[in-house]
Amino acid sequence: MTGGAGFIGSNFVRYVLENTDYSVTVLDKLTYAGNKESLAGLDESRFSLVEGDIADAELVNELVPRVDAIVHYAAESHNDNSLSDPRPFLDTNIIGTYTLIEAARRHEKRFHHISTDEVYGDLELDDPNRFTEATPYNPSSPYSSTKAGSDLLVRAWVRSFGLQATISNCSNNYGPYQHIEKFIPRQITEVLEGRKPKLYGAGLNVRDWIHADDHSSAVLTILEKGEIGETYLIGADGEKNNLEVVELILETMGKDKTDFDHVNDRPGHDLRYAIDSTKLRTELGWQPKFQDFEAGLKATIDWYTANRDWWSSAKAETEAKYAEKGQ
Ligand code: NAD
Ligand code: DAU
Repeated sequence: MTGGAGFIGSNFVRYVLENTDYSVTVLDKLTYAGNKESLAGLDESRFSLVEGDIADAELVNELVPRVDAIVHYAAESHNDNSLSDPRPFLDTNIIGTYTLIEAARRHEKRFHHISTDEVYGDLELDDPNRFTEATPYNPSSPYSSTKAGSDLLVRAWVRSFGLQATISNCSNNYGPYQHIEKFIPRQITEVLEGRKPKLYGAGLNVRDWIHADDHSSAVLTILEKGEIGETYLIGADGEKNNLEVVELILETMGKDKTDFDHVNDRPGHDLRYAIDSTKLRTELGWQPKFQDFEAGLKATIDWYTANRDWWSSAKAETEAKYAEKGQ
C-alpha cells in the first residue's frame, strides 16, 4: 500500500494487521504529513516500511511484483496547501497515481484507489440530494481537481487496459493520528496550547464526518468483495456544520462554546459535502460502527491530550503558515 505513514493510511495498516492475516508493505515518501511514529510498535514480521516516492517508476516496479494488491492512499491531501503551492499536488496525485497504475497494469495486480467526495464539488445547504456514484465530477480546488484527475486515470486504465481496479470516494475523516493542519485536530491542539479555535468565515460549511476506523473497514470490504471497475462512495451520515463542531470541541474541553475566533475564509471554499453510501451498504453489506460523533470526538480529544509528543513538534510551523494568510 502507499501513504501508510499518513493519517488514514496508518489507520488502515493497524486495521489490517488487527483484523486479517495479511502482511503489509508501505511505500511512503515521509513528507511533512507522514510520520513513522504513527506506525510504531507494529508486528514487524507482517509489516515493513519502504521510504520512497510513488512517482519513482524504478522503485515502484521493483516493489509491485512482490505484492498481491496495491491500495493507494498516498496523496498531497490538504486543500489550503494546494491553494498556496499546487505543484506537489500534480506531481503526487497525478503523476504518482499514473506511475502506480502503469506498474499495476504491467505486473497484473489488483489495484484499489482511495479518493474523496470533493471530486463532486459542493452542494447547497438545502439540497435534498446527496452525492452518489452517478454524480458528475465538478471539483473546486487544486487538491480536489488533482484527485478527480487521478480517479479518471484509474477509470481509463480499467477500460483501455483491463486494469483490475476499484475506486472509493470517502467523506471527511476524523480520529487519532490526523495531522494538526486539519480542522478538528487544529482546533483541539489550539485549545490545548491555551489559544482559541479558528473558524473560517461564518462556519456554516457542512462536512460529512466519518471515523477513520469506519473508512478502513469499508476499504477492506471493497478490496475483498468489490466488483472490478466499480466506484463505491463511503460515508456514515455524519453531516455537521463547522460552527457546531467547534462548539462541541470547546464544550467537551470545558470551555465556553463562544470562545473561538472568526478568521479569513478559504478562497473557493466548498459549502457542503454529503454522501449517499447506499451502494456500498446494500451491495457489499458494509455498515459503519461509529454512529455517535460526540463520543468519537471525545475519544479523539483524549488522544491528542495524551499524545502531545506526536504533534507538538509540528505545531509552530503549521500555525506560522496559517498566520501568513490571516487564518
Ligand atoms: P495525509 O496527508 O495524512 O497522508 C498522506 C501520506 O502520503 C503521508 O504519509 C505522506 O508522506 C504520503 N505521501 C505524500 N506524497 C507521497 C509521494 N509522492 N510518495 C509516497 N508517499 C507520499 O493524508 P490522509 O488524510 O491520510 O489521506 C489519505 C488519502 O485519503 C488521500 O488519498 C486522500 O485524498 C484520501 N482522503 C482523505 C480524506 C480525509 O478526510 N482526510 C477523506 C477522503 C479521502
Ligand atoms: O471531504 C474529504 C476531504 O476532507 C479530503 O479529501 C481531504 O483530504 C481532507 O483534508 C478534508 O478536506 P476539507 O477541506 O473538508 O478538510 P479541512 O480539515 O481542511 O477543513 C474542514 C472544514 O473546516 C472546511 O470547511 C474548512 C474548515 N476549517 C478548516 C481549518 C483548518 C476551519 O473553519 N478552520 C480551520 O482552521
